[in-house]
Amino acid sequence: MKIGIDKIGFATSNLYVDMAKLARARNEEPGKYLVGLGQSKMAVIPTTQDVVTLACNAAEKILTPEDKAEIGLVIFGTESGIDNSKSAAVYAADLLGLSEKIRAFEIKQACYGATAGIAMARGYLTLNPTKKVLVFGADIARYGLKTSGESTQGGGAVAVLLSVDPSILAFDPKTTYLARDIMDFWRPLDRKEALVEGKYSSQAYLDFFTEVYTDYVKQTGLTSADFDALIFHLPYTKMGLKALRLVTEKATPEVAESLTEEFEASRLYNRNVGNLYTGSLYLSLLSLLQNSTKLQSGSRIGLFSYGSGAQGEFFSGVLQDGFTALANDQTVATMLAQRQEVSVAEYEQIYQAGLNVKNGMQLPIEDDPAPYVLTGIQDHQLQYLKR
Ligand code: CAA
Repeated sequence: MKIGIDKIGFATSNLYVDMAKLARARNEEPGKYLVGLGQSKMAVIPTTQDVVTLACNAAEKILTPEDKAEIGLVIFGTESGIDNSKSAAVYAADLLGLSEKIRAFEIKQACYGATAGIAMARGYLTLNPTKKVLVFGADIARYGLKTSGESTQGGGAVAVLLSVDPSILAFDPKTTYLARDIMDFWRPLDRKEALVEGKYSSQAYLDFFTEVYTDYVKQTGLTSADFDALIFHLPYTKMGLKALRLVTEKATPEVAESLTEEFEASRLYNRNVGNLYTGSLYLSLLSLLQNSTKLQSGSRIGLFSYGSGAQGEFFSGVLQDGFTALANDQTVATMLAQRQEVSVAEYEQIYQAGLNVKNGMQLPIEDDPAPYVLTGIQDHQLQYLKR
């Protein structure tokens, strides 16, 4: 039985800050952000968007009434939770008009959450082959103004619909994974911004990739030449390039060139959005499918997921005939091109406002064109609106 990704939707805010301008404001060479980190634009998330609204805005782009009726499980991967108890999945399922006869819950392991959801979806679909599963990866990446992590912020959501006989990508059976308790990146309960050991986290990412990729090729007998593309969790896009180089330095020049070319296609969207933690790997998949000129039905893609703290997983899948419809869809590229630039000063104001959303506030929804918005908090209850 083939199980995999049937549809992928993506949403971010309509605002971004230019990374060259942010670099200058922080007394850095623009080349450090543009080339050294591989980031050109960074999504700026207004107070009227949180992980629930971002997720609904992503899902609304892909779900038909038939899909909605077939969804039996909603798993919400996030590390930007909006409540210590109630899951973002229950809010999103209700706002999207899904049936109440479903399971809906949130899952957390840093940026690995959506991959954990996908792993669970595979088991669920094996037992319930007529159903569909909706997995979200939605986050707002915040490190703090003028910190070294600031240049690797961003935000948005990916909605992944999984099914039997999927249109886009059918998973290969084998996955390899590794969990190890380390302190590379974390967010204590009293903070809205993450704490990070930046250099250590980047090295941990590479170590986890080496271990799970080596295990994968050992257990499957596949080599780098068997992959048409390798894609990565992209906290900043240079991070994925560093991991890719660990593979290409041992590959033939032809394989190295081809994997590098596909990697460039896979980082285009992420370069213009920034980190979206749980959604990052799946935005990179979307970027690959919509910007590669070489992939075709039957191409094999390897995916590396990393969540600090830490969990890593390597898995793969084969493109299905239906991927060409997604490949030809220019909606995401158009949406990213039509966003509005904000100055560094405006970004700083929006950032501060995001830290100060409090009970009793009405938020400025007239400034936000998204269909789903957070209107405020009344009696400690989040108020959402679908327009
Ligand atoms: N032109 C071109 N390149 C330049 C340059 C210039 N003018 N100036 C500097 N550079 C290069 C540097 O050589 C360096 O490249 P290499 O890494 O290839 O050596 C790169 O720009 C970055 O420079 P620094 O290392 O000096 O940058 P920094 O001290 O500001 O830290 C960072 C960078 C560690 C990534 C920091 O932004 C950070 O802590 N980010 C958050 C943590 C993170 O993203 N970790 C990734 C792994 S953890 C994970 O994946 C989970 C997750 O999502 C958080």
